[in-house]
Amino acid sequence: MYTNHVRCRACNYGPALVPEGIKAADNGEKLIPVFDLGLQPLANSFRSADEMQDGFAPLKVLLCPRCSLAQLSVVVKPEILYANYPYLTSGSVTMQNHFDRLFDDLGVAELNSVVEIGSNDGKLLAHWKAKKPTLKVVGIDPARNLSSLAFQRNIGTVVSVFDKEAARSANAIQPDLVLARHVFCHVHNWEEFILALAEMGGPETRYVIEVPYVRELLDNLEFDTIYHEHLSYLSIKAMEALLAKSPLELDDIREYPIHGGAILLTLRRRGAEIMRHVIVDRYLSMEDFDEERWKRFALDSCNHIMDLTTKVGELAVAGKSVCGYGASAKSTVTINACHFSHRHIRFICDDTPQKQWKFSPGSDIPIVDEGALIRERPDYCVLFAWNWSSEIIAKNNQYLAAGGKFIVPGKTLEIVP
Ligand code: TMP
Repeated sequence: MYTNHVRCRACNYGPALVPEGIKAADNGEKLIPVFDLGLQPLANSFRSADEMQDGFAPLKVLLCPRCSLAQLSVVVKPEILYANYPYLTSGSVTMQNHFDRLFDDLGVAELNSVVEIGSNDGKLLAHWKAKKPTLKVVGIDPARNLSSLAFQRNIGTVVSVFDKEAARSANAIQPDLVLARHVFCHVHNWEEFILALAEMGGPETRYVIEVPYVRELLDNLEFDTIYHEHLSYLSIKAMEALLAKSPLELDDIREYPIHGGAILLTLRRRGAEIMRHVIVDRYLSMEDFDEERWKRFALDSCNHIMDLTTKVGELAVAGKSVCGYGASAKSTVTINACHFSHRHIRFICDDTPQKQWKFSPGSDIPIVDEGALIRERPDYCVLFAWNWSSEIIAKNNQYLAAGGKFIVPGKTLEIVP
């Protein structure tokens, strides 16, 4: 189900890899364990009772002391994680606003063609095409179930993992912009990814990668964004180490509040007629994601898990009913870290049809439609999808008016109202 990961995927720090049976001298290089949640289920492995269940795998973060890349100690087979992927790009207003912002900030109105890697169900490309009908677009995504949704939106998709071959197929439209949103940190072999990127476009093409920024993870205690799909937790220093010998270089960095804090990295072909933005050096001088920082994060996360476990346990003992909202991958991490079961959380509301009437991975908590919050009126609702909290709270006024309360996990537990 998984392989162990021992060498930094950005700078190759780690023990020498030698064929089995051959002894190599110990080079003393070891990635440092900094966070460990033990064995955990796969965060998006939503199954109904009669379906084959996936197994558990270690969820442990290792830090590279050379380039500061934090990365999981195992790589779960992509075929297991992504063959039938239930994650749909959100159709929320927050996400549409983000698409609009990207459209403006990346100057898409002036472009002819865009390739999106990890295009999911085609929502972003369809949104952009609606704003600029002459824009040529192609998506690349390995999930067959999602690409058929994209085809229904008239978004052509190369159904494949992203590799050189997929890149060459998509390159038929000669992209001015290649976009990869929240896919890079799902990829094991970064060197191949960058080489495949470079297969596309020409000297002026921009390659834009949107990823969660490790600073936000550490500052905001987003331990629930650590799960098997997210193989790496990216710093700019690690990105620089990776790109050092590649055909592409880092040109610009922007930040966005989406998904709890993301960075948008713009890469250009090395040697292109551009001045590297001073912002890259500014980030490099501010980063301090060392072992100490990770150890503080691990301790704070542990306390946070204890607080939420205690709070929900006390409510259960007091005879209060508690449900959850948002069966995100993050909810799986929290539920299993807190050892919640159906006795603690009666159900989780979620608007994704593919998740409804299934169980939260690793637990016996059922996932139901959003209307259950009003129908069942539990006393408390844990907002597992905290990244959409304002939107979800706003549309559930009726629940609040009837005396319901949201528990919002974050740096501290917030009870609304
Ligand atoms: P995400 O944070 O990974 O996007 O997951 C959020 C989950 O919450 C996803 O399964 C969809 C669900 N959700 C709702 O059920 N209602 C909503 O209004 C929003 C914004 C998300």
